[in-house]
Amino acid sequence: MTFQTSELTQYEINTQLLLDKAYLENQTLNTLFEKESLRFNRYTRYAANLCLDFSKNWINPDIFEHLIQLAKEAKVESAIDDLLNGQPINFTESRAALHTALRTPLNTKSSIQETVTHMQHRMKHLTHQVREKTWLGFSNKPIQHIVNIGIGGSYLGIKAALDALKPYQSPDLSLHFVVNIDPQDWACVQKLIDPETTLFIIASKSFSTLETLKNAELAKTWMLEQGMPSHAVSQHFVAISNQDEKAIQFGIDRTNIFSIPDWVGGRYSLWSTMGLMIALSIGYDSFEKLLQGASEMDQHFKKTPLSDNMPVILAVLGIWYHNYFQAESYAVLPYDSSLSMFVDHLQQMDMESNGKSISKQHQPLTYHTAPIIWGGVGTNGQHAYHQLLHQGTRLVPVDFIVPLTSHYEPKCQHTHLVMHAFAQSQALMQGRSRQQLQTQNPKQSDAVILHKIVPGNRPSNTITFEKLTPETLGALIALYEHKVFVQGVIWNINSFDQWGVELGKQLSDILYQSLSNPDILKDQDESTVGLINQFKKTD
Ligand code: F6P
Repeated sequence: MTFQTSELTQYEINTQLLLDKAYLENQTLNTLFEKESLRFNRYTRYAANLCLDFSKNWINPDIFEHLIQLAKEAKVESAIDDLLNGQPINFTESRAALHTALRTPLNTKSSIQETVTHMQHRMKHLTHQVREKTWLGFSNKPIQHIVNIGIGGSYLGIKAALDALKPYQSPDLSLHFVVNIDPQDWACVQKLIDPETTLFIIASKSFSTLETLKNAELAKTWMLEQGMPSHAVSQHFVAISNQDEKAIQFGIDRTNIFSIPDWVGGRYSLWSTMGLMIALSIGYDSFEKLLQGASEMDQHFKKTPLSDNMPVILAVLGIWYHNYFQAESYAVLPYDSSLSMFVDHLQQMDMESNGKSISKQHQPLTYHTAPIIWGGVGTNGQHAYHQLLHQGTRLVPVDFIVPLTSHYEPKCQHTHLVMHAFAQSQALMQGRSRQQLQTQNPKQSDAVILHKIVPGNRPSNTITFEKLTPETLGALIALYEHKVFVQGVIWNINSFDQWGVELGKQLSDILYQSLSNPDILKDQDESTVGLINQFKKTD
């Protein structure tokens, strides 16, 4: 790999950004705060019930303006129009990326709008039938268990949303996920469900994902073994796919196929029929509120000048650290236990979208693109990896995500949680100096003090909102989707394909065949042959 961890030389503003970087060598967040009063006011934006405080970043008014200039030079404004107007921006797959049309009604009565309305109508109908207990299993009992069989974008967003919206879930429906081809996934779920009252959702846009198809087969076979008559498959299996014929071949009734248009990418699909399990669990009205929250963020993204545009601000700040200060990773730290899966969803959204190294003009890139996204919920992380954030050698920009109130009691405990979040961002910024340590304990040896110094000057954003509701969750997810999009525009890449994941799938298919075909095995590299022979010994 011949990457340079370098700046974005294709933009004129690059020269100025390098000067800004040099200026910052003699500054810290503490001095930036001393020099500029009212930083919180200046560097806070509100949209779709979210508040973004980005004051604890390596910026001053000039640097911020230069970063916004970077977005302007990259023609982010017209790129936003192209995205929202359904231009075929996913050019390697000749399609649009129109997930926003699923939540923001288009002005014109287009065929896309008709498709969306039709999809939503069908989801609403099924949701109503299941929740009103008129959808019955083979022994005429209402549905009590829903099993979503899907992986990647056909799982992560759904699970993230459902975890986050637990207080809105119906107590009458138990939710289960079968994701991995690891047989334990199905084995565990199978123990928890009742064949007479279980509805399976086979969630696969392509209907060709090995993991999903194998698990779907297991489920169908098990249901037949458990007494489901073959004519009752349609009472227990629905599919979400844009490959109707494949789903029908599997045995799904045509009327049980919930189509997903090809202009909805897997990692952007929770807003579509792919969100069926969300709608079933929280009810269609709440699902609509999720869409509404995302739509509000879409409107903000579309209409707001770049310097006030929340996704754009997050995007350029990320680029500032990744391309100008060699930050390799990015931590997302929600202070809400129910947002743990949100980080996993974000990993796919960001890394599958922008983990690219070829430009839109088909040239190898000379600069880094997507960072490694990681993180987890606070305060748990404080007792695990925050040590590295505070005293490690790497620069890791951080997003704190903080609901200001909780669905749960006692309130005072949640207050502690919020104060911990704010304290972490403060500690990252301010650090703890040698002088402070000496004052605190004059008897401490210098040697020990060195280990206790916290350098500070570590940048972070804090996103707050009043409560984690369907609306705020929708806005939050859409915020990050648009951030990822803007970064892709500035990095000049196609954020909507994922060709890199194909190779591994093809190779695993070949290796599977090599187990029974020595001619295929002998063509493999020595290490792989060694590993396969080891595996064969266990037979
Ligand atoms: O392997 C990657 C991927 O194609 C993702 O982009 C997608 O979300 C996931 O697999 C699942 O795909 P499908 O819905 O077609 O089964």
